[in-house]
Amino acid sequence: MEKKKFYLTTPIYYPSANFHIGHCYTTIIGDAIARYKRLCGYDVFYLTGTDEHGQKIQKKAVEAGVSPQEYVDKIVANAKDLWKSLRISYDKFIRTTDKEHVECVQKIFKKLYDQGDIYKGEYKGLYCTPCESFWTETQLVDGKCPDCGREVSVVTEEAYFFKLSKYQDRLIKYYEENPKFIEPESRKNEMINNFIKPGLEDLCVSRTSFDWGIPVTFDEGHVVYVWIDALSNYISALGFLSENDELYRKYWPADLHIVGKEIVRFHTIIWPIMLMALDIPLPKKVFGHGWLIIDGGKISKSLGNYKDPREYIDTYGVDAVRYFVLREVPFGSDGNFSEEALINRTNGDLANILGNLVNRTIGMVNKYFDGIVDNPKANEEIDEELINEALSLKEKVDQYMDVLEVSKALEAIFDLLRSCNKYIDETTPWVLAKDESSKDRLKTVIYNLIESIRIATVFLQAYLPETANSIFKQLNTDITDYNSTSEFGKYKSGTKVNAPEVLFKRIEKDNN
Ligand code: MSP
Repeated sequence: MEKKKFYLTTPIYYPSANFHIGHCYTTIIGDAIARYKRLCGYDVFYLTGTDEHGQKIQKKAVEAGVSPQEYVDKIVANAKDLWKSLRISYDKFIRTTDKEHVECVQKIFKKLYDQGDIYKGEYKGLYCTPCESFWTETQLVDGKCPDCGREVSVVTEEAYFFKLSKYQDRLIKYYEENPKFIEPESRKNEMINNFIKPGLEDLCVSRTSFDWGIPVTFDEGHVVYVWIDALSNYISALGFLSENDELYRKYWPADLHIVGKEIVRFHTIIWPIMLMALDIPLPKKVFGHGWLIIDGGKISKSLGNYKDPREYIDTYGVDAVRYFVLREVPFGSDGNFSEEALINRTNGDLANILGNLVNRTIGMVNKYFDGIVDNPKANEEIDEELINEALSLKEKVDQYMDVLEVSKALEAIFDLLRSCNKYIDETTPWVLAKDESSKDRLKTVIYNLIESIRIATVFLQAYLPETANSIFKQLNTDITDYNSTSEFGKYKSGTKVNAPEVLFKRIEKDNN
């Protein structure tokens, strides 16, 4: 049977040499969803990449004394390296400087122009001549250029405009007919009340004051507005309007765009209108997640309140960082980041609950049965409770992941692990080990622990891939598939476990 497809995207990042842990959030959550969907048997296409055009990048390149292309090439390598160190399993990394993307955007722009949705007009704005930048009234600081503090003047330039206004009613109707298009619900209300109801103005979609952008093919000197360029990545990456559009035909429309809350507006107003104008289907869902914040405020370079995420990975391990980010930010809202909170989560959940459990259990198999796990299948009431909890995990994780409550899905897995620890305390294997006549009972207890750990680990693969691999290796099992969690007893009786490995070391606070 052909697998069901799942097309998932996270935003393409502005290339930066200064990524922080907040930047990693969207992409880690995307990765966990992609891995989870693959686990469930979907044919997943997970896209991410870099958003490389625009005046800001051009300026930075000038400051660095290199061409914009040289500038972005160098920092894109930095983004790729970061995703590698976080084990991000994307299927494609798109760059907006890729030839295929550039051609696709040019065709989209031309098509919209030819059909009258893009037209030429005049852009009137507040311009800072030394900085060559347009600003809006609200961006000014004390009425002056926010970059250099100098006077700005009202300037008009020729520009192309996109008829957002024409599609306003259709967009509202689409929201009404597809109540799950924008989530969480609160973000939808914000879009309608703050942006759509006051009336959509046509959007200026070309610039002439700088040239680091995609040229408009039919009017020299104009480059395409960076958001029209960037949003198109979701279809250009699949070969839309190219000779080879097989991926487009297979994967479009996207099942899920995950974006940070501040860019929901672009994804739920400009993007759907672009797609309506192109007469192609709209994405099924745009999910706007909350932010990781520090002390209630932004993580910011100027405040110097963060380290490169790779430093945390080197100190605490990649899965500690992934776990923190996935667990700490509740569904749709903000979550606080601090190194101390990261240490607490690592010690409390990963070292104590998960690491200890696996270590103790493997240790007992080695100590009492020379590493062999046997299943005498003689369960008592207390065993049934654990077994039922293990068997109900699939349904819980599925339910939470269906509504993207990643943090709660992890919580459900850790609830089972907690119950395993409680089961050890209640069945007291060390007491059973003292009495020869309790050997079978001890075997049963250990089997139930091993099998519960295996079931929890099947799901952990989506969130903590390295840890899950290490646990499966220690358990010496290759029964790691999603369906194997519907039945208790899949772990093969008679298996010899491998040597124990420490999954997470307890971190002493004065270490850092
Ligand atoms: N280039 C645009 C996206 C274009 S998509 C067609 C962009 N790039 S970005 O680099 O500024 O942001 C990338 C992602 O990182 C966004 O989803 C943004 O919300 C996310 N985050 C940046 N800081 C964040 C936190 N502190 N916390 C969580 N996510 C945040 O926007």
